[in-house]
Amino acid sequence: MRKKIILITGAVGEVGQALIQTLTEQGATNLVTMDLQEMPADISGLSKHIQGSILDKALLSRLVSEYEIDTIYHLAALLSTRCEYTPIAAHQVNVEGTLGLLELAAEQSEWRNKPVLFIFPSSIAAYGIPDLETKAQFPQVKEWEWNYPITMYGCNKLYCELLGTYFSRHYRQLASENPIMLDFRCLRFPGLISAFTVPSGGTSDYGPEMLHAAAKDEPYECFVRPDTIIPFMAMPDASNALVQLAQAPRQSISRPVYNVTSFSLTAADIHDLVIQAFPSSQITFNPDVKRQGIVDSWPAGLDDNHAQKDWNWKPAYDVQRCFNEYLIPNIVKRYHT
Ligand code: SER
Repeated sequence: MRKKIILITGAVGEVGQALIQTLTEQGATNLVTMDLQEMPADISGLSKHIQGSILDKALLSRLVSEYEIDTIYHLAALLSTRCEYTPIAAHQVNVEGTLGLLELAAEQSEWRNKPVLFIFPSSIAAYGIPDLETKAQFPQVKEWEWNYPITMYGCNKLYCELLGTYFSRHYRQLASENPIMLDFRCLRFPGLISAFTVPSGGTSDYGPEMLHAAAKDEPYECFVRPDTIIPFMAMPDASNALVQLAQAPRQSISRPVYNVTSFSLTAADIHDLVIQAFPSSQITFNPDVKRQGIVDSWPAGLDDNHAQKDWNWKPAYDVQRCFNEYLIPNIVKRYHT
């Protein structure tokens, strides 16, 4: 019999590393991880790691011949800034990669006669608000509002939300009588901040970059205006949200896509919190017009009422706890001991 596993793609990314730890703390011993990169040594014992691409069909075939995939956390993606430099490659990874995994999950659901659970992180990048006046008028955006992304990444995420929904409700609707469909569930994350890793290739990166640079005593030039506002979340809340969504009883899930959020901050707020912790930090603001335009198109806040109601979503870290209990102490430990 094949071993039942939880598959995590893009597992060496920031969310992936946090998720491996969260699942392991909950007792998971059946994690199979995939990424183009090697697993960092400190967590390499927590999963069976396969170094390779989600676009490698032969690799995916080998995977299903060896394991029964019960749950997929599909995290592999190129982030928003990187995507704008290589939009076609971004589409291949973000959309075709997701399509391949959805197809695999659909086949596996049929084969084992039980839905594969498919957890997919989407993003505030799925929104696109036309101007700052409108952004101010809609301070807490609902899931179905302003779905007009202006980045390749945002378009990819929004389309994959729809693809996943299609695969879980209508896949092969004319070809098959009573197909066992996969169970697709998706979260839209705000900007994420980790004490242990730094993002690469995103546009909300100015938040974590400012903090990590200050902790390392390096100067930082912020690429957005001080008044720029978007929602953020501490990384442990992000990995918990994914696991909570995965573990919610199916009957409590009323929609395929949920907003989740913690707190909204301006770049100036982040600057002030960072200066409080690291008074000698040298932070300047030099907005990059293009990246500024992307962040300005993202909402100032998310309405996450549906997640609260359906599966009791509540972040553990508000802004004070996030900085005082999670970010600052762990970052100080990381760079100064
Ligand atoms: N953090 C992501 C990015 O900046 C947004 O989801 O691309």
